[in-house]
Amino acid sequence: MTDSKRKRVLSGIQPSGNLTIGNYIGAIRQWVQYQDQFDAYYCVVDLHAITVDYDQTALAAKTREVAALYIACGLDPHRNVIFVQSHLTEHAELAWLLTCNTPLGWLQRMTQFKDKAAKQEEGSVSAGLLTYPILMAADILLYHAEVVPVGEDQKQHLEFTRDLAQRFNHRFGQEVFTIPEPMIPLAGARVMGLDNPTAKMSKSETSQYHAVYLLDEPDMARKKIMRAVTDSGREIRFSDDPERAGVNNLLNIYQALTGQSREAIEAHFATARGYGDLKKEVAEIVIETLRPIQERYRELTSDMGELDNLLRQNADKARAVAQPTLQAVREAMGLLKKS
Ligand code: AMP
Ligand code: TRP
Repeated sequence: MTDSKRKRVLSGIQPSGNLTIGNYIGAIRQWVQYQDQFDAYYCVVDLHAITVDYDQTALAAKTREVAALYIACGLDPHRNVIFVQSHLTEHAELAWLLTCNTPLGWLQRMTQFKDKAAKQEEGSVSAGLLTYPILMAADILLYHAEVVPVGEDQKQHLEFTRDLAQRFNHRFGQEVFTIPEPMIPLAGARVMGLDNPTAKMSKSETSQYHAVYLLDEPDMARKKIMRAVTDSGREIRFSDDPERAGVNNLLNIYQALTGQSREAIEAHFATARGYGDLKKEVAEIVIETLRPIQERYRELTSDMGELDNLLRQNADKARAVAQPTLQAVREAMGLLKKS
């Protein structure tokens, strides 16, 4: 299939916190499966990470880390465009042009804004936190992305992007933007916190035994899984019962990483002596999954010059698509052409 026939997909992750096995199972691993099927763009959205308090001495290293992890998890940087959002000025520029076409009320009702603003100290909520969805819309619309894989929590931002694109096309009387479709992974792809299995495992949660990070040493990964919250029973079965969410979560992780059926997994654990046996096996499969990722990560980051080169080449590829879109937007909006 030629590139022009493939649907275009775009997604991004913020370089905040440490990527977890939730990011891998729920997002990056899926992206790896798309690489033969889609014309794919994946960015590290550093401009989104600065909308809340962050450590400016760690941002650059985190940005590289996430980009290197994309590749280490199996995304081929020659078949996918893997780039850093801020390496292109087009994202921030389109965001401004879109800002002037966004009704304020649309931003104020975003649930993520309300949640995040409530968590910030009074007076420290940045305007960027409010306009965050516009920057995300710019990320997507610059590339005419048709499909956007995101978690359930980003669905509202995708709706916002679609509404904004339609409004813009309508106002300026042209099909400047492609209307994107969200792609939400199945519920089974959702990994819950090890210390609190009724809440999503999150890279921004800092408690020590909450998440296994992609760069955790084997001993650390094992320790976290052995400490995972379960219940007082001993039956190892998939279950929707919130009381049994911990065991269900471990089984889901096991299923996601082994690819076995639920029946086969339940049969396998039917003779286990208790949850300890389940945890040991989950720990082993997690460690085995992370091993090659970590090896590749170490290789990639042993030559930062080479990694930065790859990111620069990929940013050039991204710019070749983003620039003409921005040009079309400038023209549609009536800005004077640059001579
Ligand atoms: P976040 O870490 O929330 O910025 O999310 C980045 C990507 O990883 C999104 O596509 C999420 O849907 C996915 N993701 C994050 N945490 C999880 C999780 N616990 N389970 C499944 N997918 C996740
Ligand atoms: N807001 C998304 C999140 O927190 C990250 C993101 C930024 C994104 N730009 C994007 C996701 C464009 C998909 C497409 O998960």
